[in-house]
Amino acid sequence: MKSSDRFVIRGGRRLCGEVEISGAKNAVVAILPATILADEPCVIENVPDISDVEICFRILTELGATVEQLAPHTFRVDTTGVDSCCVPYESARKMRASYYFMGALLGKFGHARVSMPGGCPLGDRPIDQHMKAFAKLGADCKLDRGMVDITSEGLCGNQIFFDVVTVGATMNAMLAAVKAEGLTIIENAAKEPHIVDLASFLNSMGADIMGAGTDTIKIRGVKYLRGTDYAVIPDQIEAGTYMVAAAATGGDVLVKNVIPKHLESIISVMEKIGVNIDQYDDSVRVSVDGPLVKTSIKTRPHPGFPTDMQPQISALLCLAEGTSMIKEGVSEQRFQYVDELRRMGADIQVDGKVAVIEGTGKLTGAPVKACDLRAGAALMIAGLAATGVTYIEDIFHIERGYSDMEGKLNALGACITKETVSNAAKAEHTQQNAV
Ligand code: EPU
Repeated sequence: MKSSDRFVIRGGRRLCGEVEISGAKNAVVAILPATILADEPCVIENVPDISDVEICFRILTELGATVEQLAPHTFRVDTTGVDSCCVPYESARKMRASYYFMGALLGKFGHARVSMPGGCPLGDRPIDQHMKAFAKLGADCKLDRGMVDITSEGLCGNQIFFDVVTVGATMNAMLAAVKAEGLTIIENAAKEPHIVDLASFLNSMGADIMGAGTDTIKIRGVKYLRGTDYAVIPDQIEAGTYMVAAAATGGDVLVKNVIPKHLESIISVMEKIGVNIDQYDDSVRVSVDGPLVKTSIKTRPHPGFPTDMQPQISALLCLAEGTSMIKEGVSEQRFQYVDELRRMGADIQVDGKVAVIEGTGKLTGAPVKACDLRAGAALMIAGLAATGVTYIEDIFHIERGYSDMEGKLNALGACITKETVSNAAKAEHTQQNAV
């Protein structure tokens, strides 16, 4: 019988101590496909131990690359043997970021055939801007039986203006343009830290990319990209998640291996909520010595407050005094976790892209389900702060983006176990809770 894992959290314990942040998911899922562009092997360090990375490695291997683990978080990736440009449905459907194989394969071979991507169910997530960028560079893009088929007779630099600020399309345009003939100028580019990290990685191989981290990125195409040894930046959202978890439990935690500059918007919101944050060179200390207070937040592209922290901060605001308001300014459907938090006693009303949270000061343990990655993180935080026991199902969503989350939290004093539940038990459990 098929089974799935769940977390069992015995809540109400203060988190104290130190936690080490892993490499950034949203950077590594672009950097690994980008190794295809290299004409020599690359060594990638600070690779997080998450299932999205496993999927990237599986796809690379299926394409003909060899991947060798040199140390716990260090891998040598040799893509010189890649002899296929096709990423089939079975691999691509598991991870949204599989779309980076489009840009990387197109940039290297002038052809890519990649299944439409999967990933977190966050509403309508079109890839029209990715296609627009490829077309501007001279590629022909067609949808053929669920596969995106992209071909070119030789890519040429061009001006690409994005109609919306998009992380994925900005990265894909960079991947496709890095070896294109002449100059590419990307306007209205996304500015997230992982955009800068991908540019730094490509530049370390000999690419000529300027302006990453601003609205305008200029890329002068090069013919050859050498191998490189590169360490992925720390994960801004994983750091933010542990910071919120510490605050939600009234804890005192040193969050290590971070770039505090990347955390500015998260720190500013948490300080408004009444959390103390001390910043050091590559760590932040989070502590609480007074009541948590209401606030209003709007998520925006970087450097605004990240949509990927919105569910976690909502869980914290359930524990604050007063009425808070959250406006979602980036994602289509990022309030799916609200029903689950309500099962734990949260008082949240959602109207379109706005959520109003009445802080109740407490949450109680309940059986809940992670419906996407950050929803899962929010439920972990709620479970840690709640009285009683919380059972979180569908934790594969959490494991897509958090490296050993239960281990890291237990080292801070949490009490979390991972259990395997048979499908029969899960169905019974769901039925009991449906009434
Ligand atoms: N959009 C379009 N057309 C496109 C692309 C995007 O209309 O061709 C719209 C989207 O519908 C959305 C907005 O633009 O409303 C922003 O989407 P973006 O392209 O920036 O999102 P993404 O690249 O699909 C990445 C992260 C997400 C994160 C968003 C926003 C990766 C692999 N994923 O997604 O991360 O929420 O940027 O910052 O980098 C997560 O880590 O939990 C996660 C979902």
